[in-house]
This record gives sequence, C-alpha cells and structure tokens, in this order.
Amino acid sequence: MSNQHYQSQGNSLSEEKFKRIFEVASDGLIYMDTSGRIVDVNEQAVWIFGGSKEDLLGKHFTRVGVVSSTNLPRITKAFASILLGRGAPLEVQIRNKKGQMRFLECSYSVMKTDGKLAGILAIARDITERKKAEKALLESQQKFERLAAIGQVAAMVGHDLRNPLTGIKGAAYYLKTKPALRKDKKTMEVLELIEKDIEYSNKIITDLLECSRDVHLELTETTPKLIIGETLSLLEVPNNIQVINLTESDPRIKGDIEKLNRAFVNLIKNAIDAMPYGGKLTIKSTGTNDNVEFTFADTGMGMTKEQMGKIWAPFFTTKAKGMGLGLPICKRIIEAHKGYITVESMPGIGTTFTVTIPIEPKPTEGGEKVWVNVPESLSSMTTKASEKS
Ligand SMILES: Nc1ncnc2c1ncn2[C@@H]1O[C@H](COP(=O)(O)OP(=O)(O)O)[C@@H](O)[C@H]1O
Ligand SMILES: [Mg+2]
Repeated sequence: MSNQHYQSQGNSLSEEKFKRIFEVASDGLIYMDTSGRIVDVNEQAVWIFGGSKEDLLGKHFTRVGVVSSTNLPRITKAFASILLGRGAPLEVQIRNKKGQMRFLECSYSVMKTDGKLAGILAIARDITERKKAEKALLESQQKFERLAAIGQVAAMVGHDLRNPLTGIKGAAYYLKTKPALRKDKKTMEVLELIEKDIEYSNKIITDLLECSRDVHLELTETTPKLIIGETLSLLEVPNNIQVINLTESDPRIKGDIEKLNRAFVNLIKNAIDAMPYGGKLTIKSTGTNDNVEFTFADTGMGMTKEQMGKIWAPFFTTKAKGMGLGLPICKRIIEAHKGYITVESMPGIGTTFTVTIPIEPKPTEGGEKVWVNVPESLSSMTTKASEKS
C-alpha cells in the first residue's frame, strides 16, 4: 500500500505506524483502487476470505469468488454509490475459500490524495457469530412459543380429562361396593388397579395444570419446623430410609404453606427415589438475615454435571415412571416466593438441594406474574406482586 493514499497532511501518523494498525485491526481491511481492484488486505481480511493473500491481491473484488452471483449486483451497485460519495454500510454473506458461510458487515472509507479520489478502504466486520446467536435466539423464542402453546393445550386437555376420570372413579367405586363382586378376589384387584391408575393420571394432570397456571400465593405465618413436619406427614418414607429432621422453630416465616409443601414433597420424593437401597435424608433449616434456608441432603445416587444442567427443564426425567415436572414446579413455587433453589451433587455420594426464601416474600418488579393474597390476619391488603412497586 503506498503512502500517498492515507497520509493526511501534517498528521504525525507515520507509514510504519499506519501499516501496523492496518495489519492488527480486528476487522478485515481491503484497500481497492477506484476500479475495484484489490491493492492491499490485512491479515484479518485474509482469514475471513479463507485463502491466501495472493488469492486476493491484484484481483477485482467481484472476481475473488466468494460472493454469490445473486449478491454481486447489489455489491457492484454499492461500490458505484461509494465512489459517488453515497455509500451506506452493507451486509454481505459470503462462502469463503474454505467453504464456510460468513456474514460480513461492510462499511467504507473513501481515500483521497490531493483532493482526488484515490481508492476505497472497505472495512469488513465478521458478524457470523452474532448472526448465529441471533438465529439461535430466534429459534429458542419460537421453541418457547411452541412450548407455551403446547402447555396451554395440555392444560386444557388435562382439565377436560378430569371429568371423565371422576366418572371412571365413581364407577369403579360403585362396582367395588357390589356384594356379588366383592366376593371375587381377582375382580377386586382389577378395580383397585383402576383406582390406582386414576390417581396416577390425576397426579399427572395436577402437575400439568400446576406448570401452566399463574402462581397464586396465599400467605400464612408458619415456621420451618411446622412446615417440614407437615410435609413429612404427607409422605410415606420407606423403612430403609432414615429421615433426620433438624428444622427449627425460628424464624417465623410467611409463605403459601400448601405450595411450599408441594415443593418440599417433590424434593423429598426425589431424595427417596435416589436411595433405592436405603440411606439418609437430612433436612435442616437456618435463619440468615431476612431469609431462611432449607437444605435437603440425601446419600443417594447423585447426579453428573450434565444431568444437573437439565433437571430444571420440564419433562427431564431419568425415571421409568417419572414425568420430569417435580423440580420445575418446585422452582416455580420457590421463585414465586422470591426465593431460589440450588443443587449440589456427587455421583455415588449424594445430593443436596438448598431452598432459600425470604422470611416474607416482598413483591418486586418483573419476572413471572405472581398473585399474592395476604389474609386479613396478616395484613389488610391484597396485592398483585408484579404490579406493586
Ligand atoms: N435427590 C436427587 N438425587 C439424584 N437425582 C435427582 C434428585 N432429584 C432429582 N434428580 C434427577 O432430576 C430428575 C428430574 O426430577 P423431577 O423434576 O422431580 O422429575 P421426576 O422425579 O419425575 O423424574 C430426576 O429424574 C433425577 O434424574
Ligand atoms: Mg420428582
């Protein structure tokens, strides 16, 4: 590149310095004469084009062979506009010498010598990664919308299935009371199986509905010890599993007891499932400033890092009869309380889930829509969490 093209009068930028800047620039720089012949390129430009410097030097920019014929007219037109001083930045897609698709954002600088047009410096910024990220974002948005739509349908179908299920349940119950049938052991077994499966179906529907509805919180005052005591009374713990309940009566907390119970039941059930050959589950509570922390530490099979990255997504399960909705529901409930849940695990050693919730959930801006209902006895207000400032 010759000195005359870039050295402005009286400027102290030496050719040496300019050359260095040209070479190390993070954008691809392509210097062309007014006819469009490439005079010089920097390293980054060579990298973008995926060939060697020799592939580019001396060639007309339309002949480097990386721009598709459909794109060429647009670029040639842009080049003409630039010469007339009306060039605007341009996005170009190329397939480079290595066969890679690259997206470039090109801007231009017109070079003059003694007031006369000498050439054009094209600045090509490689925006391939950005484009990829944009595409991924769009795809995940579309996926999210699709899932949301499926969720709505699932909720509707689930809701509609409740009635026939109740009908089947009633019919099974009716048959069970028939003296003639009561005598037949096999029939009774079948009827009990029907009832059990109805219960299982109902549980799936409840979980689906739980996942798709807004969270409504009914705040009541309680203590860590009371709430875990209640949770444990809802569960059947196998004999080979020892539960050590170290929760305390301090601090007093405000929360939706039914929902927190559901969240804790899910965590304890998971711990039980993780210890098929027995083990120990230790439940602890600790008050810290404005929060209370519950830990559920099991001595079960544990999880790999990869598994841990997936457990919060709906429908992730490693169990034959699992739905993979337990932890997503749990997370939703805890987050509705303005708390958070974390996990630590070691394969073969065990898993600890830690739930941190504020002593009293304070409404904050943003996030998912959560309805908080504070009964008269606690406060005289009913607020919608996401709208209160
Ligand atoms: N305490 C635990 N120990 C080991 N793995 C667990 C534990 N809790 C959850 N997991 C893993 O997370 C997955 C998802 O759990 P969850 O959302 O409750 O769904 P499900 O219990 O229906 O499988 C489980 O299938 C299991 O692989
Ligand atoms: Mg579960």
